[in-house]
Amino acid sequence: MTTIAASALLGVYPRVGPTFVAGEGCELVAADGTRYLDLTAGIAVNALGYGHPVIRAAVDAALATGLVHLSNLYHSDPAERLAELLARHSFASAVFFCNSGAEANEGAFKFARRWTGKTDIVAFSGGFHGRLFASLAATDRPDYRRPFEPLLGGVQIVPLGDRAATERAVRTDGTAAVIIEPVQGEGGVRPVSPEWLGYLRRLCDDRGVALIFDEVQCGLGRTGVLFAYEHSGVVPDLLTLAKPLAGGFPMGAVLLGPDVAEAIEPGDHATTFGGGPLVASVARAVVTTIADPGFLEAVRTTGTWLGTRLRALAARRRRIREVRGVGLMWGMELHEPAAPVIAAARAGGVLVLSAGANVIRLVPPLIVDTAALDRGVGVLEEVLA
Ligand SMILES: Cc1ncc(COP(=O)(O)O)c(C=O)c1O
Repeated sequence: MTTIAASALLGVYPRVGPTFVAGEGCELVAADGTRYLDLTAGIAVNALGYGHPVIRAAVDAALATGLVHLSNLYHSDPAERLAELLARHSFASAVFFCNSGAEANEGAFKFARRWTGKTDIVAFSGGFHGRLFASLAATDRPDYRRPFEPLLGGVQIVPLGDRAATERAVRTDGTAAVIIEPVQGEGGVRPVSPEWLGYLRRLCDDRGVALIFDEVQCGLGRTGVLFAYEHSGVVPDLLTLAKPLAGGFPMGAVLLGPDVAEAIEPGDHATTFGGGPLVASVARAVVTTIADPGFLEAVRTTGTWLGTRLRALAARRRRIREVRGVGLMWGMELHEPAAPVIAAARAGGVLVLSAGANVIRLVPPLIVDTAALDRGVGVLEEVLA
């Protein structure tokens, strides 16, 4: 059904399915009262699901101060405490707050340029970093790029895993940054090997280049550890976050290692809304909840269960080509387009995503339990019969 409001929205999103009016736990409720199991979490945003008491309490407490926004002209406790929390749990000595994943990556590129004094950027095939001019230039999606060329110059996309091409692209005399997702999301849910991340670390060190990990989708508990880089032990110079950071409120962040942070000066970068008191308060509550060792342990346990279940399904359904993933971030590559399967699952009451043309992506709320996942995979199994 098309409503007047929907028709006035710019037509950049091909929307599907019913109009949703409420959410509870891992379920979304449509206008007609039908409940759907949501294994999309607002595209890996709603880590704590819907109506979580931690978010509700944080919003209430923040609103009680009267401060939704303050500006970065003045000191503000919520942003400072959130930055301290993220730094304490990571390699970072300083954090910059912004409003989205693309904005975080654009900021990281600027910080890398400032630190290295160089300009160029190297990214990888299958990577997705956002839809703004620099982040789109680093994104390997020809259909997203082509209508808007020329994009930012000096950005090269190299085949992931190709050492010779990477060594040609990453230059001591011109490259400011190498950017990579430790687990590629939009590009088909592909965990990048620890060996490749370690190789990039050494190459960047040798050539004076900033290594940026884009953890906008795979960070903050999604892979069963707080930051995906922990799986490899490879530490970047800069790391970007967004999606789940503020529990569904728009927020991004750039984490900077001490050397990069030292190179940044007042006035180098800014954004009006970055780290406002409301979003920062909610984000602190969300990050505190996710960083709890018991919470992460539960994500690992549930994620391992899901991976085992999906691999068993793949053994029974020949339409599935491969299952890939870690934690609660899984992709099922089909031998056929994913869209009709996703539509059929939705008709069966289960919401899943695509990641490229042939991959079904599951990024449920991190609070999901195995009973809900069993229901979801059961519907996929029927649909793929
Ligand atoms: C890895 C990664 N980086 C960046 C982005 C862009 O984030 P945003 O849509 O908040 O700009 C996304 C969005 O899907 C992403 O998955």
